[in-house]
Amino acid sequence: MDNRPQWGTRAGFVLAAVGSAVGLGNIWRFPYVAYENGGGAFFLPYLFAILTAGIPILILEFTIGHKFKGSAPLSFFRINRKMEWLGWWQVAISFVIATYYSVIIAWAFRYTGFSFTKAWGDDTGSFLKFDYLKYGDVAPGELGGIVWGSFLPLVLVWIITLFILFKGVKKGIEKANKIFIPALCVMFLIIVIRAVTLDGAAQGLDAFFKPNWDTIWDGKVWVAAYGHIFFSLSIGFAIMITYSSYLPKKADITNNAFITGFANSGFELLAGIGVFAALGFMAAQSGVGVDKVATAGVGLAFAVFPQIINEMPLGEVFGALFFLSLVFAGLTSLISICEVFIAAVSDKFKIARNKAVLIGGGAASIISILYSTKGGLYLLDVVDYFVNQFGIALAGLIEVILIAWVFKQMKPLQSHANAISDIRAGLWWKICLSIITPLVLGYMMFDLLRQNIMQKFDFESGNYEGYATSFILFPGVAIAIGVIVVGVLFTLKKWNRSTI
Ligand code: PHE
Ligand code: NA
Repeated sequence: MDNRPQWGTRAGFVLAAVGSAVGLGNIWRFPYVAYENGGGAFFLPYLFAILTAGIPILILEFTIGHKFKGSAPLSFFRINRKMEWLGWWQVAISFVIATYYSVIIAWAFRYTGFSFTKAWGDDTGSFLKFDYLKYGDVAPGELGGIVWGSFLPLVLVWIITLFILFKGVKKGIEKANKIFIPALCVMFLIIVIRAVTLDGAAQGLDAFFKPNWDTIWDGKVWVAAYGHIFFSLSIGFAIMITYSSYLPKKADITNNAFITGFANSGFELLAGIGVFAALGFMAAQSGVGVDKVATAGVGLAFAVFPQIINEMPLGEVFGALFFLSLVFAGLTSLISICEVFIAAVSDKFKIARNKAVLIGGGAASIISILYSTKGGLYLLDVVDYFVNQFGIALAGLIEVILIAWVFKQMKPLQSHANAISDIRAGLWWKICLSIITPLVLGYMMFDLLRQNIMQKFDFESGNYEGYATSFILFPGVAIAIGVIVVGVLFTLKKWNRSTI
């Protein structure tokens, strides 16, 4: 326990936490989620979710990591040995996310290069699907051969990521974030300033900010806010517990949580402005409404943005900056998520960091090749859907219930946090975590299950994305079972005496 690595500076820890939080989700997910769920009016549920769940859980996870000084399974074991399995579950979720998150970063890498020649031509959508990803060649559920344009940058992404992780917490993770995050801020500011000065930007911003207050009464909007916050702040899947286990004794927990939370939101808001200004420009160019071009995810980044880049002056530069921003934002998140299973494996098997990086990173990188095949995009889509819908929020829900109600840890954790922090975690903190968050998340899970079951019997709308039931069930069920088996096996293995 004594030779556990430590962050070199407070700023180093905060930057690493911000680096984990600020990811692809901020850039390609938040703007659209906000737009879809009431525009300016979304601000209210969003703020509510941050203040009642986001920051309280950040404080909770920072405190757990700081107090118990272990990866998620070890920290939970030290709370109560009956809690270790939850840590492994979170580790498994992180592992699965790492396998496909890395692939998206690889695409962004490749598209940074494409920007200079605008290699995607005029029909950016079919370029992405057919020319770049070779998507049309196989049916959903088949893999087909390797797609080299995706595989080669993927190798590069893993080399960079594993190299940084090999270097360790202070010399690797901390240093990388100290370079990547400021660079990301500068690049992103340039992009946003350029975007808001384009013709038609005002129209896009109008669409983004225009409040639709009617939606406020819809439970779906609040659920969307909660769901987004979990993914966006990287909470509920062990990342923040792992990172805070490297904090020195003296560390201001609540303050760091507020800084991390608001830095992530600031970046999201900035992304919303930049993305919708650019969408406004594109809508104006093609003479359609903003609603016709607004979208999220892979389609937004790799099909719509190339079109915007085609049409704007100096698009090459704008494009390269945009895709490089995705790469930097993504890499710092990928690093954090790999650290989760690296720390867990190294704690449990008492092996050196280098070995854990080799085993954990090696396994994740090999599995990620599956998504660099011709059928990879389908697979990525389904796995991402499952992880987001059932993984993160459910693990977060169980985490707060076990901590607050089953093992009654709120009081001891509260005094631990307050003894070292400036801002006190008071009664509000306990109420948020033991009552509000479980209620909202519980409702959310219930509603999701209901919808998914209803959908099965609704032949009109059919399955998610119209995929065959067997294809949806196979990766979903395989992952669910795999995760449980791994969790049980790892929990059964005894800890080394000197570890606990
Ligand atoms: N917080 C990240 C984002 O907004 C989500 C994430 C973190 C995903 C770490 C994977 C790994 O994109
Ligand atoms: Na985020």
